[in-house]
Amino acid sequence: MRASAVATLLTMRSAPSAEQDLLQQINADKLPKHIAIIMDGNGRWAKQRHLPRVFGHRAGISSVREVVRACGQLGVKVLTLYAFSAENWSRPGAEVAALMRLLEDYLQRELPDLQKNHVQLRAIGRWDALPSGARRQLERVIEATSKNRGLILTLALNYGGRQEIVDACNRALKSGARQVNEESLSRCLNTHGLPDPDLLIRTSGEMRISNFLLWQLAYTEIYVTDTPWPEFRRPHLYRALLDFQRRERRFGGL
Ligand code: FPP
Repeated sequence: MRASAVATLLTMRSAPSAEQDLLQQINADKLPKHIAIIMDGNGRWAKQRHLPRVFGHRAGISSVREVVRACGQLGVKVLTLYAFSAENWSRPGAEVAALMRLLEDYLQRELPDLQKNHVQLRAIGRWDALPSGARRQLERVIEATSKNRGLILTLALNYGGRQEIVDACNRALKSGARQVNEESLSRCLNTHGLPDPDLLIRTSGEMRISNFLLWQLAYTEIYVTDTPWPEFRRPHLYRALLDFQRRERRFGGL
């Protein structure tokens, strides 16, 4: 089924030949099941163009749209996007408000496309603390797409990896546990039921994890590109996949 997904993509006439060349090299049987992305560089991208930072975030929405479609078409099971970290509240109020409005607009506009492509939306993080407009849209889209069986798109919102682990411990304690192990703690995480990411992509060059999926990234392959998020499109994703497919994953073994 996956092989046919790549074959179908290859028949897309509109794709430029360089993109087709990259696609042709992808081994459809060795795709990551779960891709996580730290979408970085929006602000710098805007600054280079003498634009306010929010223009970078807005441009980043087109990258979100393209990467979500590409992952769905390729047959990737889960895509997790770091859309707003628990630390992002410390940004200027106007930028936070703009990010929340962008999220709300994205969810409102994107619902028909998510439905058409059978995408199921989920959220991780303490997203109940988001402003009511964004929270309501999120609840609406999560509910509306809950029966879709295509790509699981997980948005990390007001998310922090350490917080998630602390929350998981508290959940375990509350359920009466006096001790936890890897399996029981995993069950208390926001990502319960999802496979750990096989591939983490970070755009814009920084070599950091930035409190993202700290537990889940234990054996994840990390790919960092200098491309800023607003410029990250299909060819960049395909290059990341090809790089991933060249790695030898040993999970601590030989
Ligand atoms: C990091 O760039 C990016 C963010 C903090 C937010 C990412 C948000 C979007 C792409 C738009 C909304 C997302 C969705 C899913 C609707 P930065 O501002 O830290 O860039 P910089 O490091 O260059 O300053």
